[in-house]
Amino acid sequence: MRRKTRSCCFPSCRPPAGRRGLAALLALALLVLSGCGGGKEDSLRIGAALYTQDDTFISAMAQDLEGLVREAESETGKKITLFIADGKSSQNTQMDQVDRFLARGCDVLFVNLVDRTAAAVIADKAEAEGVPLVFFNRQPVAEDIQRWDGIYYVGADARESGELQGKLVLEAWQADRETLDRNGDGILQYVMLEGEPGHQDSLLRTEYSIKAVTDGGVEVEKLANETANWNRAQAAARTAQWLEEFGEGIEVIFSNNDDMALGAIDALADTPQSRWPLIVGVDATAPALEAVAAGQLYGTVHNDGRGQAQAMIDLALALWNGEDPAVELTDGHYVWLPYRQVTLENLGEFLER
Ligand code: BGC
Ligand code: CA
Repeated sequence: MRRKTRSCCFPSCRPPAGRRGLAALLALALLVLSGCGGGKEDSLRIGAALYTQDDTFISAMAQDLEGLVREAESETGKKITLFIADGKSSQNTQMDQVDRFLARGCDVLFVNLVDRTAAAVIADKAEAEGVPLVFFNRQPVAEDIQRWDGIYYVGADARESGELQGKLVLEAWQADRETLDRNGDGILQYVMLEGEPGHQDSLLRTEYSIKAVTDGGVEVEKLANETANWNRAQAAARTAQWLEEFGEGIEVIFSNNDDMALGAIDALADTPQSRWPLIVGVDATAPALEAVAAGQLYGTVHNDGRGQAQAMIDLALALWNGEDPAVELTDGHYVWLPYRQVTLENLGEFLER
């Protein structure tokens, strides 16, 4: 990879233009003292900024990061300190947290943006300090990622998750159209629970799930769509309204994530129905897998948060050591983890994890 030529010390040793004189003197002093330009080689400090810890998928990722850091410490014999900050859905709060990580001398930043359009400001701060920056889960636009070669994105392809979700529904429709097409009109009537507006996963899952169904030759009719901001309670409220409005006319509930699909299930459980619509989510969170096992959630699409956390740590360690990371980098900046469909058929594989 491109950064490999860096010396044994870490990029944070690379001073911003205005501080080069002082930094060069300091680096020289440290070189003399440690023999490795900074003496940081026994302790890696990572600052991880989460958009909010109050998100099922993100808080599971935070736990994965903590567990995997401990594993990496015992594998490498290096000390790794992980600082986690909760942005509480405020970009201003997250900016302060990033500033604090940089002031504390963090060696790598992991940033789960509150607002994707704030990427450039954070990228410039990190570049000014020469600290590599790994964005995850909330994808900045390509121009922001390409601002500097120390910027990375670890995530999964939103479009793929939409396609896989749509194919789950398409296959269910093809296999048992009589049951699914409740009103027998040959058209699939659906509602769509959308994630946060502006999030790549909301936009692309909404678009590509339906495209997969229509590309499969099935005519669809959208009864309603609304954002529930990834949130279970909001999704329950929206679904309750739709059940009042459309009754048993809803044949499929598409949800951009599992938490909202579980909210739809909560609403259905509170509303007498002769039969439930087919419900699909994305993530494969633990409670969603239970709902698949219980037959309430037809299927979901596994969003590999643990794989993403592992890739981030591998990347951080490699950058710190000035080595090639064990992860595959696309276009020098991106690490993509694949999505996978989950239904009752292969549920066992995911429950074991
Ligand atoms: C997940 C959602 C989560 C969101 C947060 C998405 O990739 O599917 O469950 O709320 O990321 O940014
Ligand atoms: Ca129908």
